[in-house]
Amino acid sequence: MTATASAPQPEGGGADPSVPRHVAIIMDGNGRWAKKRGLPRAAGHKAGAESVRKVLKAAGESGVQCLTLYAFSSENWRRPETEINDLMGLLRFYLKAELSALHKQGVRIKIIGDYKVFPADIVKMLEEAMALTAANSRLTLAVALNYGSRAEMTRVVRTLADRIAKGEVAADAVDEAAIDRELYTADLPPLDLLIRTSGECRLSNFLLWQAAYAEMLFVDTLWPDFDGDAFRAAISDFARRERRYGGL
Ligand code: IPE
Ligand code: IPE
Ligand code: MG
Repeated sequence: MTATASAPQPEGGGADPSVPRHVAIIMDGNGRWAKKRGLPRAAGHKAGAESVRKVLKAAGESGVQCLTLYAFSSENWRRPETEINDLMGLLRFYLKAELSALHKQGVRIKIIGDYKVFPADIVKMLEEAMALTAANSRLTLAVALNYGSRAEMTRVVRTLADRIAKGEVAADAVDEAAIDRELYTADLPPLDLLIRTSGECRLSNFLLWQAAYAEMLFVDTLWPDFDGDAFRAAISDFARRERRYGGL
């Protein structure tokens, strides 16, 4: 038996296996951070955006190839409209304020999720950001917007079913690699480390397929308190893990 593309890939081309190639973060706890201080939830989201800046810097310095951030889930539409508007406003602000610096730092921006349902000006900004930074290669920042893992997998099933119906692909040619190729994450390195802040120990519909062999780290720190040091501590923790992939 040979390994499929979606089987865990222990070490890639001489890279240091103690450094995760791809780190994903469920940035949780903004609301609780604000509540503790008697501030509106929006203040927590604003403070959370500062954490993004710090963590992105630390990720670039630590040699991580890809950082994926869960910024808005497909379930977050259940929140009050005012909070959704605050989040959209913050996204606009952050994109405008940070884009040229990110580009200069060699960051490639990628959006995963069905972002096209967002307000038209945001869609335009996101597409411009992706186009501007497409050739950058120091670090990929993948931002999950209106992302849900089940929706992602449903989309893959539809795409493949459509190809089978058209006779382009045989049903028994659908293997794990074929599914991998249709996921939003197709061009990203395998997920090595998944972090969730705020003490919640659940995935909330994030990267379910991709996390099959990812190392998990759940920390109590609320996202606005998570900084470069916290990120480096997570990387050190990862370096101590023994990964087995079902073997011995
Ligand atoms: C995470 O913080 C940010 C988003 C989901 C956009 P929360 O807003 O979920 O904060 P808590 O969980 O209520 O503290
Ligand atoms: C997950 O956090 C989504 C993001 C961080 C964007 P939530 O706060 O929405 O998750 P639940 O509701 O606690 O599962
Ligand atoms: Mg939350």
